Amino acid sequence: MCGIVGYYGQDEASDKIYRGLKKLEYRGYDSAGMATAGNPTIKVEKAVGTVDNVRPEIDGTSGIGHTRWATHGGVTEENAHPHVSQEERVAVVHNGIIENYREIQEEHLEDVDFKSETDTEVIPHLLEKKLENNSITDAIREVIDILEGNYAVSAVLNTGELIAFRKGSPLVLGLTDDEYFIASDVTPFLEHTDQAVFLKDDDYMVIDGDHRIFNDGEEVDREVQKIDWDAEQASKEGYDHFMEKEIREQPKTVKRAAFQDRSDMEEARRMIEEADNVYITGCGTASFAASLGARYLREAGSKVHTEQAHELEYRKDEIKEDDLVIAVSQSGETADLLSLLEEVDSDVLAVVNVVGSTLARQSEHKLYVNAGPEIGVASTKAFTAQLAVLRLISYTLQDRLEEGREKLLDTAEKIDDVLERNKKSVQELSEYLTDKDHVYFIGRNHGYDMAREANLKLKELSYIHAEAFPGGEFKHGTLALVENGTPVVSFLKDDHFEAAYSNMMEAHSRGADIISVGTREVEESKAHISVPEDENAEILEIVPFQMASYLTSVKKGNNPDKPRNLAKSVTVK
Ligand code: M6R
Repeated sequence: MCGIVGYYGQDEASDKIYRGLKKLEYRGYDSAGMATAGNPTIKVEKAVGTVDNVRPEIDGTSGIGHTRWATHGGVTEENAHPHVSQEERVAVVHNGIIENYREIQEEHLEDVDFKSETDTEVIPHLLEKKLENNSITDAIREVIDILEGNYAVSAVLNTGELIAFRKGSPLVLGLTDDEYFIASDVTPFLEHTDQAVFLKDDDYMVIDGDHRIFNDGEEVDREVQKIDWDAEQASKEGYDHFMEKEIREQPKTVKRAAFQDRSDMEEARRMIEEADNVYITGCGTASFAASLGARYLREAGSKVHTEQAHELEYRKDEIKEDDLVIAVSQSGETADLLSLLEEVDSDVLAVVNVVGSTLARQSEHKLYVNAGPEIGVASTKAFTAQLAVLRLISYTLQDRLEEGREKLLDTAEKIDDVLERNKKSVQELSEYLTDKDHVYFIGRNHGYDMAREANLKLKELSYIHAEAFPGGEFKHGTLALVENGTPVVSFLKDDHFEAAYSNMMEAHSRGADIISVGTREVEESKAHISVPEDENAEILEIVPFQMASYLTSVKKGNNPDKPRNLAKSVTVK
């Protein structure tokens, strides 16, 4: 949710920032902008839309940039970041929300003529005022004392120094021998360096040829970490879109997810077995993985509660110190999830993709799903990697870790075949869906979670109205919407085939066009997605729907990597 890039070095900052912002566009693409240091005043360029609308023609060797997902204030050039102080000596980019910005305007900035409707604009004005009588570090500290909310902030001063501070939103420093990068995640600087420092909450930093990090008035040492992701992984590698590349990467990523260390798995097992109650949660696609994970863990004999994180927060008092929360997240930065975790005293086991993310750092134990950078806003390879890791936990609880790992590797081997054997049906399905206004997805038990995930993929990519229901629930009301030609996608899992088939027939006999998914083709289907028998069939079932949703999006002229109104990591509640 909003991407930040900062650069301090020998080269033109605007070039480096532009390239970095291109990598962060998945975090928001309502508007973009950048600012570079210049005497006597800062230089700024910004525009509505993507970063390509901002021409990097401003010179200077230090600067900041931003790609925005709008919260406070509409999508306008005035509201685009960076925001600049009254005397144009400070420019600021921000990710997050300043909750008390109205009080700050009234109490500290009465004389300021605000140019935007954003909460962010108070920050450059405050900084400029505090810099009048303070050192840079003291000025930042005074500003932090005033701000309430959650923020990752980077600022450039007209004199060239780069500033960064964070609370609740991520910021990472990338280091080469003579350059510094500040960014919301590591992808903007992977092409330059694999050396990174993750700032902790309440850290603030000044870069002026050297870098110094402080927390609560004290200078602190933060470990430099080597990032194993490489720049290649974060590029399209010849595909038209990241999404297609990420769908096709899944044979590799599911395998990588299955290669967890035995000791990490045993620690996860200990946490689960020793907990009084286990809760598993996430948001969006990760919540469907969590729901499937709950089913896998129940199959291994664990009692597990599952609910989406923003709703589970209303039950936070139920979650006690001796319980365990398993938190599933691609980004590890989702505010709804982090907010729940802040409210509970239990241990947290993270199943997370982004290395060094807030969730990864704040959890008692973490299992990285190792999907590599997922740039497409719609989650694909992270979902199947999450399923693989959750299934592996279940295998560990059943003393079947090695056997289970082999099974997952075998499932991964089948992904290409499933895409190949369904190529024609997936193409036809995407053409058929392109003109549809409404689509329903039904399934039972595991099939219901599959219906929910397939539904979300289609909805967010194609903008077609779609809804998912438990097969048994459909006839309790929604069936009234089915008429001749209404598409109903039915997940026919082998373990409850008859019941799922009956629900499908209830729709078929009212004229629905049936799209079936499973090992058995049924004669009533207009289209069938065929998957082989497999203990981890969910991984195989979702991939053709990822592809069909991707193709539908392209056919409709949408951008599958950047669905409208969405952002990759949702760092506001
Ligand atoms: O980074 P997270 O996994 O925590 O993100 C959770 C959701 O925001 C995310 O899965 C979202 O639903 C995706 N757009 C789905 O494709």
